[in-house]
Amino acid sequence: MSKTPSVLILLTALAFAWGCDSSTAPSPDEPASGAAQKPVEPRALYVRSCQSCHGPTGKGNGPRSRGLRNIPDFTSVAWQEGRTDAQLKHTLMEGKGSMPAFKLRYEEPELEALIQVVRGFRP
Ligand code: HEC
Repeated sequence: MSKTPSVLILLTALAFAWGCDSSTAPSPDEPASGAAQKPVEPRALYVRSCQSCHGPTGKGNGPRSRGLRNIPDFTSVAWQEGRTDAQLKHTLMEGKGSMPAFKLRYEEPELEALIQVVRGFRP
């Protein structure tokens, strides 16, 4: 009878130590969760979200571009010079005509990166 409390204390202490161990165990994995913040792959975003309409070279000839009105040719210098980054960003966020809005889909750094991809099509 006098042994029971000390056994209980021991067990409790063990359980506590075990609990601490398992709760601190995930910390070595932290770099993995940090990897979620790895730099955006702008080109991969474009391929995933834009290429179907805007085409692999930005000419506006992707497989879904048929019948879309006003789809621009990103390789046109005149088109590039006629638009400010602010205008491109606005369209990207809010959508325009058949162009979908992306503000709920992408965060600020991704939107900026996508604008740079569009600018990169300029010859
Ligand atoms: C469903 C087809 C479709 C998809 C997907 C699409 N776009 Fe568009 N995009 C359009 C069309 C159509 C226009 C022309 C809109 C207009 O001027 O009426 C356009 C216009 C634009 C413009 C010109 C905006 C301006 O102000 O003139 C930019 C920049 C652009 N898209 C970037 C993107 C990017 C970046 C993506 C991917 C994140 C994307 N688009 C995805 C169809 C699409």
